[in-house]
Amino acid sequence: MEILLTILLVLTRILDFITEPFFKCAAKNKRLYLPPLKNEDILKINATELAKKIRHKKISALEVCKAYIQRIKDVNPILNAIVEDRFREALREAKQVDAYLQKTSLTLEEIEKFKPLLGVPVTVKESCGVKGLSLCCGLLSRKGFTAQTDGEVVAKIKSCGGIILLVSTTPELVISWETWSHVNGYTNNPYNTTCTPGGSSGGEGALLGSAASLVGIGSDIAGSLRLPALFNGVFSHKPTPKVVALKGHWPLGEDPKYQQFLVIGPLTRYACDLRLMMNVMCNDKKCAELKISERVDLKQINIFCIEELHDITQPKVSDSIKKAVNESVKYLTEIKGCKLIKYNFMSFNKAMYICGSELYTLKDIPDALKWENANFWTELVLSIFWKSRFTLNLMYAYVIQKIYQCFVGNYTAKYEEMKQEEKLGDNGVIILPTSIGPAHKHNQMFFKNIYAYLILANALGLPASAVPCGLDTNGMPIGVQVIAAPYQDRLCLAVAEELERHFGGWVPPPKKK
Ligand SMILES: *[C@@H]1O[C@H](CO)[C@@H](O)[C@H](O)[C@H]1NC(C)=O
Ligand SMILES: *[C@@H]1O[C@H](CO)[C@@H](O)[C@H](O)[C@H]1NC(C)=O
Ligand SMILES: *[C@@H]1O[C@H](CO)[C@@H](O)[C@H](O)[C@H]1NC(C)=O
Ligand SMILES: *[C@@H]1O[C@H](CO)[C@@H](O)[C@H](O)[C@H]1NC(C)=O
Repeated sequence: MEILLTILLVLTRILDFITEPFFKCAAKNKRLYLPPLKNEDILKINATELAKKIRHKKISALEVCKAYIQRIKDVNPILNAIVEDRFREALREAKQVDAYLQKTSLTLEEIEKFKPLLGVPVTVKESCGVKGLSLCCGLLSRKGFTAQTDGEVVAKIKSCGGIILLVSTTPELVISWETWSHVNGYTNNPYNTTCTPGGSSGGEGALLGSAASLVGIGSDIAGSLRLPALFNGVFSHKPTPKVVALKGHWPLGEDPKYQQFLVIGPLTRYACDLRLMMNVMCNDKKCAELKISERVDLKQINIFCIEELHDITQPKVSDSIKKAVNESVKYLTEIKGCKLIKYNFMSFNKAMYICGSELYTLKDIPDALKWENANFWTELVLSIFWKSRFTLNLMYAYVIQKIYQCFVGNYTAKYEEMKQEEKLGDNGVIILPTSIGPAHKHNQMFFKNIYAYLILANALGLPASAVPCGLDTNGMPIGVQVIAAPYQDRLCLAVAEELERHFGGWVPPPKKK
């Protein structure tokens, strides 16, 4: 019965073609620009360097905290990326850090070892759980609900000296590739406010892209760390499953397969900070296994390249992103001495079916309709007219889930075949598009089937970094994805750092002309 899904997806491609001009026209003249950066000398320091400067008392934690809070206040009225802040507590904590550094008997090495993030401001996606702050996640019926404890990762960040500034927006129930909800409204893309920052870690993406955050914590079940990184021109890393604790994340299904799909990971503006954050976030035993800090010799790395998946249901990858993939591969192989391996990952072309069916047949995808005794069909019709208490995005996810569950065949055998094809070993990475193109307009997601490239890494349990590669001719960020075999996260991070050197990494959003 996969024919039904095929027809639907092809229809979506046609609808995308027809509706594109409408979206362009509807957005005309509605664009807002961010104010220019103040405190550039602070906001443009990477977290690794910033932590060092704070430790050495070259810069005060308070000064840093104030600079970020100022930037957040400057941009948030335009971005709408915050659910709830804790600025007052953060400023108090920053003062405590400065006082602590005046009197501590620990050596600088000891501080670096035990408190590697001391004084560094961190933003957190709402669903990761910060004690005392909102844990509503865009669902009207959960409004006012706060986290009773810190999520395990958040606690770790705090114990390593990080200063949490706020929790940022997610789509309703953290299920969508765009960030809007009836609770928080739309979050906007800093590079063009008529576009979405992506989702589900969209609040984090927007804050990082606009220099209102340096390092952020997000989660990823089907691309939610990597799509916002692509759309907002920053870095993110989806770790190997189970190396970063999920405890405290909401929602969290019981199906053991959840632990394979869903991961918590970092978003950063500078590539080197992915390593810093992974060292902080991984649980200690796994951290040793990952050898995150071990130097990677690029000359030993095999590069595989997927420029585009070949499947009639898949939208074309934009020329800008194809070019970025091509240039990345060229740079790594011709200049940096990596070895190019020509290999056609045939089974990956059907990712949409195989990985999609793995995801949507998870046993207990959080079901807001069931919790609230709502009727599927009624809410679906109402949501199309923006009249349901649920967003159309959430209803859309449930529709897709039903389609996979009812009409799509058994892909267990094909999934195994796909796993067999991934033979990256301890020295192979795939360079491929993060998604089909740069950020699209708000609500355009329904016509853009953007997730095949993203969901591959979740379904196969592979680590994957999103790497920005500059801006396209419209001034929107583009980027590539770097995938490695399980537990080879350090290869993704090493390649990300190398590509940052080549492409220049994060670029500030445009000023009004
Ligand atoms: C950005 O916004 C303006 C609307 O003022 C629009 O004309 C332009 O095409 C947008 N760029 C993209 C990439 O959507
Ligand atoms: C971090 O920033 C410092 C100062 O700008 C720079 O020298 C250093 O190379 C950066 N670190 C990394 C690992 O890129
Ligand atoms: C990059 O593009 C060039 C020119 O179109 C092509 O010859 C080359 O094979 C491409 N490289 C990769 C790795 O796809
Ligand atoms: C799918 O097929 C596999 C064998 O390929 C079988 O073991 C499994 O039980 C099937 N699953 C369902 C839900 O039918």
